[in-house]
Amino acid sequence: MNILAGNRKVAIIGAGFVGASIAYALTLRNIARDIVLIDIDAKKAAGEALDIQHGIPYMGKSAVRAGDYSDCKDCDLIVITAGRGRRPGESRLQLMQDNSRIMRNVVDNIQKHYTRSVILVVSNPADILTYLCDKWMGLENGMVFGTGCVLDSSRLVRCVADYVKLSTEVVKGTIVGEHGDSQIPIWSRLAIAGVPMEEYCENVGLAWGHAEKDTIADRVKTMGAEIIAAKGKTHYGIATCVGSLADAVLNQRLTIASVSTTLQGEYGVCDVALSIPSIIGVNGVERRLEENWDTDELSAFRQSAITLKNKIDELGNI
Ligand code: LAC
Repeated sequence: MNILAGNRKVAIIGAGFVGASIAYALTLRNIARDIVLIDIDAKKAAGEALDIQHGIPYMGKSAVRAGDYSDCKDCDLIVITAGRGRRPGESRLQLMQDNSRIMRNVVDNIQKHYTRSVILVVSNPADILTYLCDKWMGLENGMVFGTGCVLDSSRLVRCVADYVKLSTEVVKGTIVGEHGDSQIPIWSRLAIAGVPMEEYCENVGLAWGHAEKDTIADRVKTMGAEIIAAKGKTHYGIATCVGSLADAVLNQRLTIASVSTTLQGEYGVCDVALSIPSIIGVNGVERRLEENWDTDELSAFRQSAITLKNKIDELGNI
């Protein structure tokens, strides 16, 4: 069990665009006391830390600095962003070989200094790296979790809000499964201010059928690739999502989000990490929720699990 997250110390492994944006997002939200950026390029980590640090007098009280793996000691949260990013046209799963090796190295280094932290995996392919990190760390289930479909769910909410022309606050929607091409929108649970989407659209005279769902699902799924094609990387969206997950862990503001953990039989799936709605708190994923999805959604989810499991099998021993 984790103790109370009193010190709110966070280590971020990898000070690239994603790691630095996460440090910046945490600083703006003022939810951590001590933020340490760790990178094999120590000079880059130092530069990013200095740059972020210099705005703090106007923004809050976090201390941001560069450090090394010994700073993983006494952390409340370790965020792993190390790994190479996707190139234009590349799928997340194509990063598997390279980033699994990097993850092995990161875990070996964390283990030398690890005391009690929750570990949040952000690097892609998020689900496979979450599974490997969880297996190699050997902690209580839930202490290692991946950002998974939290950003996809956020993109879904954005697209649906645009479609119904309302603020995102009133839209509740979830994407589950792989943070990647086999992800599944849970249309049966999509709601506008608590009213099922179908009923809402009927009430206000909006179409809500296969065509609308397919357009939105496709847009959500390809959004990451679209951003990469335009600017070569994605980092702000994921950094903002990490901010709210970190708040749940560090400040005990329990939340429910679609994040990735190694499942233990939920929805008939076991020994593979992928996203389902989960309660997140001081111990990471404290509980996974089983909902009554439609038969089609359930079978697509199981198919997504099989896709990921097959990829893990391809990896062999690292
Ligand atoms: C994206 C990255 C986080 O979808 O995979 O933006």
